[in-house]
Amino acid sequence: MQTHDYDVVIVGAGGAGMRAALEASKRARTAVVTKLYPTRSHTGAAQGGMCAALANVEEDNWEWHTYDTVKGGDYLVDQDAAEVMAKEAIDAVLDLEKMGLPFNRTPEGKIDQRRFGGHTREHGEAPVRRACYAADRTGHMILQTLYQNCVKQQVEFFNEYYVLDVLMTGDPRTDEGVRASGVVTYELATGEIHVFRAKSVVFASGGFGKVFKTTSNAHTLTGDGPAMVLRRGIPLEDMEFFQFHPTGLAGLGILLSEAARGEGAILRNSNMERFMERYAPTLKDLAPRDVVARAMANEVREGRGCGPNKDYVLLDLTHLEPAHIDAKLPDITEFARTYLGVEPYTEPVPVFPTAHYAMGGIPTNIRGEVLRNAEDVIPGMYAAGEVACVSVHGGNRLGTNSLLDINVFGRRAGIAAAEHAATVESPELPEGVEIPTVELLQRLRDRPATEDRVADIRRDLQETMDAHVQVFRTEETCRKALADIEALKKRYETVAVQDKGLRYNLDLLEAVELGFLLDLAETVALGALYRKESRGGHFREDFDKRDDVNFLHHTMYYRTLEGEEGAEGTSIRLGTKPVVITRYEPKERTF
Ligand code: FUM
Repeated sequence: MQTHDYDVVIVGAGGAGMRAALEASKRARTAVVTKLYPTRSHTGAAQGGMCAALANVEEDNWEWHTYDTVKGGDYLVDQDAAEVMAKEAIDAVLDLEKMGLPFNRTPEGKIDQRRFGGHTREHGEAPVRRACYAADRTGHMILQTLYQNCVKQQVEFFNEYYVLDVLMTGDPRTDEGVRASGVVTYELATGEIHVFRAKSVVFASGGFGKVFKTTSNAHTLTGDGPAMVLRRGIPLEDMEFFQFHPTGLAGLGILLSEAARGEGAILRNSNMERFMERYAPTLKDLAPRDVVARAMANEVREGRGCGPNKDYVLLDLTHLEPAHIDAKLPDITEFARTYLGVEPYTEPVPVFPTAHYAMGGIPTNIRGEVLRNAEDVIPGMYAAGEVACVSVHGGNRLGTNSLLDINVFGRRAGIAAAEHAATVESPELPEGVEIPTVELLQRLRDRPATEDRVADIRRDLQETMDAHVQVFRTEETCRKALADIEALKKRYETVAVQDKGLRYNLDLLEAVELGFLLDLAETVALGALYRKESRGGHFREDFDKRDDVNFLHHTMYYRTLEGEEGAEGTSIRLGTKPVVITRYEPKERTF
């Protein structure tokens, strides 16, 4: 086992991690630990844009942006956090521009802006051009720009180091001496364990879309960060709120950017009807994602789906000029050709909702400090980006608010982590630290081979989540998912890996990741069962209205720790946290 000492350790090298690293490394000795190479992080898959009320193309202001974010999130957004994000958006975009990001330009040379779902002027009057973009590869450009700037600033990266556990001093359920003290990692190339001792730990490890089968998320998005903190007694927040992006390539889930609709593409059913006119008469195809995804699923349910199985709808770009498509949407139109053999110039593209984004995650305040309950922070622990729940997205995130979130709150977490590190001594690591995940690695290797494979359990998990906890949910489907997950957890207890080696043992690490997925899937299903209302991305057919009297609060998930009362039964206890309401009283959403 090797040990390393840093002031700040950042877990994950996507947009949030690298934005945090740029700030922290100016102020403190910083390491970024990532299970990938930074430029392969999932930020690179984000397509359509990053929003900011620059007003470069038409009138706009940060207050309208705040309002849209709050309304889009179905009033579960913490409004103080949304206001910070919308205000700081403008500098966040300009910072990236100064770092060298090649945004598309207006004819006058300003950063160009386009429409995106739920972004409006004058509180819903009409769509507004708020998304700054680099064709349909905005996330790719952000990732490359941040990486180049990290290299220039000599940020230290530990690539292909899997973080297995977070080290804590004290017990997060009490305030006696609790603090983050580092992370335990597994070096993929050698199989060696490395312990990173740190005064501050920043989680920026992304989402967990792989709990679902049909997803826009990469294979690596297994929720390692939230699952490991949950196991250490730190809560999670709002896990029942998962976003289904309307336009995944049908049958595959690969993302086709909402920018297509921002540029004028139209959703049609089997009658070639522009059905969004019925569901959202003002914003139509540019309504927020929860509304559009449900409308699409409903069209299919009611028999107006397309194709031999009537199980998708169509994204029609055929009325757009090919030159416009090539200039603004080159990647996604190529995806349609490559993966479905469809020519978007002349044929509509088959699409269906795909699991895209976790609104919930590790609870933080607006400095990125992790909360250990509804109020108190854990000194030295930070989170930013999709892994975190600030909560700026509430029940449903607006498109382009994610690339914004990683920049605004990645920056804030990096600064806060470095400032904290300047005020404390390095933590003492207890002798012979007990690391359950490291013991798990040994057990997985030692077990005799079984018929059951990690991939089989993962597939069964993803199928049950798609079948029971997707766009539409009921008490019955949530209970079925929970029963399935319990059975899958039993299978997981005996599963073995085929590869017993040390070097590049992805078989072993996928087994660890599967454990994380199972834990998080349980929280999603449990929260979906608990929340007897419909809000944002969480739609209960048996409670199809929003219920502000009983459910205008965040859901908190606490894992009962060993020895604690209740640890034998279900290991998750639910709690609540108030929603911060400043300017906008909840009202009915219409679009
Ligand atoms: O549709 C998209 O381009 C995705 C953007 C986002 O999730 O923010």
